Order: sequence, then C-alpha cells, then structure tokens
Amino acid sequence: MRAAARIAPSILAADFASLGEAVALIETEVDSLHVDVMDGHFVPNISLGPPVIASLRASTSLHLDCHLMITDPVRYLESLKSAGADGVTAHIEAVPSPDPFLREAERLGLTKGIALNPSTPVEAVTPYLDRVDLVLVMSVQPGFGGQSFIEGAVDKIAALRESIDSAALSADIQVDGGVDLRTVAAARSAGADILVAGTAIFGAADPVTAIGELRSTMDHGSTQ
Ligand code: DX5
Ligand code: ZN
Repeated sequence: MRAAARIAPSILAADFASLGEAVALIETEVDSLHVDVMDGHFVPNISLGPPVIASLRASTSLHLDCHLMITDPVRYLESLKSAGADGVTAHIEAVPSPDPFLREAERLGLTKGIALNPSTPVEAVTPYLDRVDLVLVMSVQPGFGGQSFIEGAVDKIAALRESIDSAALSADIQVDGGVDLRTVAAARSAGADILVAGTAIFGAADPVTAIGELRSTMDHGSTQ
C-alpha cells in the first residue's frame, strides 16, 4: 500500500515580508515546504533564490523542496545545497538530458525530481522514473501562483502512477498548480502523492484550517 498523501505548501503565495511567521504557523501541519525558484528566463517571473532559502533554513526544520524553474539548474545546485535546500526538482524542458543534473544532485545528497510542463507528454520523463525521488506534474503553466488547474494533468498523473506501480518503483508523484478544494480529490485519486498548494493555503484566512480541509477533501472528496 502506498504512503499517505502529503500536502506541501508553496510559499510563493505567502507574504514574503513575514515569511518566517507564515512558515511557523503551518510548521507542525506538514513535512515539507515547496519553494519556487524562478529566474525570469525559463519562466517570465523572478521569485527567490539561495539567500531566502538560507533564511528559511534558519527558521524551520521542514524539508525544503525546491522547484527549480530555471534554465541552468546544475549550475546552482551547490549554492542551493549550501543554503540549506533538501531537495531539487528541475524541469525536463530545461534539462532534456537530465543525467548531469541527477548526478550532481546525488553527489550533493539532495533528493531529486523532474518536472514536466502541461504541454510536455509523460513519455519525456518515463525513462528517468527509476532514478528520481519524485516526478512533478505541472497543472498550470509555471511562473505564477493563483492560476486554474489544467484538467489534462489528471490523465498524466494516472499514466505516471501506472508506469511507477507496474515497474514497482518508489518515485512520488507531485502535482503543482491550482490545487484547491475543487481539484485536490481528482489529483489524489489519479495517484498523486504530494499535493502542492499555494493560494489555497496562504491565501486562506486560516492556513491551518485550509490544510486540514485539503487533507480531508483529497481523501473523501468533500469537506463534510
Ligand atoms: C507555479 C508554481 C507553483 C505555485 C502554485 O509556477 O510552481 O508552485 O506556487 O500556486 P497555486 O497553488 O496558487 O496555484
Ligand atoms: Zn512550484
């Protein structure tokens, strides 16, 4: 039987001026934080990098799972590791031959994942499923929080679930973008293990309650 699904809050939706407080609030509710690193080149937005990760590291023991929406991820792995990152996920569109990325992440002792954009077919990542800790299915175009879930992600999650299970592999499936009370159950029942949510958590009046509602909705299909 698979491990219970996990919720990973995306700090992109938090108030960066009080990031420490936002993280402290949800720290006991989850195991990991989703940290979106954007370079203004791979995606048309700039978010944060190693200095902010170092500040987070100093204020939390949560697993810092860094989603690298950057053009040349290998170049930054060492500084991300030094800043305190625990895991890194690179986009297959940025590293079409991901061997150097996977090897460098391994050398540094980082958990590693490969992400795919909504328009990228699952076949682009299936050759690497036996070498990653997670595969990240983007359910929005990467670059911005607060977008609507692209339904096509559900079939991709299901296809990856089938590939991972039929080969008895252990890679987790992470889904990211537009995950909220309306979409979380479909993503979970298709086979997602890690549900990333930004706006649905940090945009809520009470992030702790929001996490609890996401958790119960993903397992039971409603908050009732
Ligand atoms: C988008 C980011 C997501 C984003 C999700 O490029 O990768 O992690 O923060 O935000 P919501 O949950 O608001 O769609
Ligand atoms: Zn992300």
